[in-house]
Amino acid sequence: MSRLSEAHPVPESNPETYERLERATHELDPPFALVDLEAFRSNEKDLVRRAAGKPIRLASKSVRCRALQQRVLGGDGWRGTLSFTLPEALWLATAGFDDLVVAYPTADRGGLRELARRDAGAITIMVDSVEQLDFIDAVVGRRGTPLRVCLDVDAGWWTLGDRVRIGAKRSPVHSKSQAASLATEVVGRAGWELVGLMAYESQIAGVGDAPPGHPVRSLALRAVQNLSASELSERRADIVEAVRAVAPLEFVNGGGTGSIESTTAEASVTEVTAGSGLYGPTLFDAYRGFRPRPAAMFALPVVRRPRDGVATVLGGGYLASGPGDRSRLPAPHLPEGLRLDRQEGAGEVQTPVLGRAADDLRVGDRVYFRHAKAGEMCERFDRLHLIDGDRVVDEVPTYRGEGRCFL
Ligand SMILES: Cc1ncc(COP(=O)(O)O)c(C=O)c1O
Repeated sequence: MSRLSEAHPVPESNPETYERLERATHELDPPFALVDLEAFRSNEKDLVRRAAGKPIRLASKSVRCRALQQRVLGGDGWRGTLSFTLPEALWLATAGFDDLVVAYPTADRGGLRELARRDAGAITIMVDSVEQLDFIDAVVGRRGTPLRVCLDVDAGWWTLGDRVRIGAKRSPVHSKSQAASLATEVVGRAGWELVGLMAYESQIAGVGDAPPGHPVRSLALRAVQNLSASELSERRADIVEAVRAVAPLEFVNGGGTGSIESTTAEASVTEVTAGSGLYGPTLFDAYRGFRPRPAAMFALPVVRRPRDGVATVLGGGYLASGPGDRSRLPAPHLPEGLRLDRQEGAGEVQTPVLGRAADDLRVGDRVYFRHAKAGEMCERFDRLHLIDGDRVVDEVPTYRGEGRCFL
């Protein structure tokens, strides 16, 4: 038996889920997006279980729906938000969210001025260079309350004499001495308070270690991820020790949905981030150790039948960010047995779906799709229909539905 099936009993079958979703949503006209609450709650619990007692900071970019974020943050095991832009964090703070860390450096002058004007206790911004400190000082000038800041440290794996660098091109701060020197620079400046350190290992957290149909690549990926995790564990501990000698950190953040176990196992890490695992998009199908249930989907209407074995739905070209390859396309999920057309992929105005199941589809039927990534789906829909069992129990706005578009 595989590791996965031991840990996760198979949930209800796809045909049953299809029937249930159809019963729940029969009055809605597609296109619409939904969150299956049973799957969402089960994903939420599984993330908390995997975090093994360490608090999880919610990656808001991976949810992009305030109502769901509030729901998750109200539960045990979750603490604070990893926000994706400063304007978003300011907006969430106004709405009562607290403990917000902006995950990426900002050059938003209006946002920085607003942050300095208000008593910005709830928001921490991210820096990884002196250049950013200079920029922010020039924008906001003297301020009463210091700006709370977190250092972003590169969590990539460097090998072969540092000639090969694996991981996202993020922070230039990689070594203990670089981190200590940036920390010293921050605490030496007026108007700054160094409160946190973050190192996000995208090469582990965001890359599935079991890509289907690629056994050799899977083995290679696992080997690289294991080596990277053990190198990072030592380096992160050393960096945290060196930075703590300069400033008493409130938190050390790391990881994401795909790396929770290895990140929380590190004593120097005080909290882990996760978000995508709640919706369970297709990019998170390819992990050995966990399998989120598909919780977020969008339904599109069949509008024509070009020929046998093909049904065509309206819209559908909701591609995910990242390298422009097939993994970023949405996937027809229900009814089972459908696939995209290789030539057309998912189109701006129409998407053909192929396969034997297409012959049973009639004009007006729906096809339920899964997005490749999590929160990006919400940029296409102004609301999410929340489904419990076979009923729509609520309808909540996405960020877009609230007129907010941050990225
Ligand atoms: C800084 C940072 N931390 C954590 C995550 C992990 O988020 P998720 O669990 O949604 O994959 C991301 C995702 O891109 C990130 O950029």
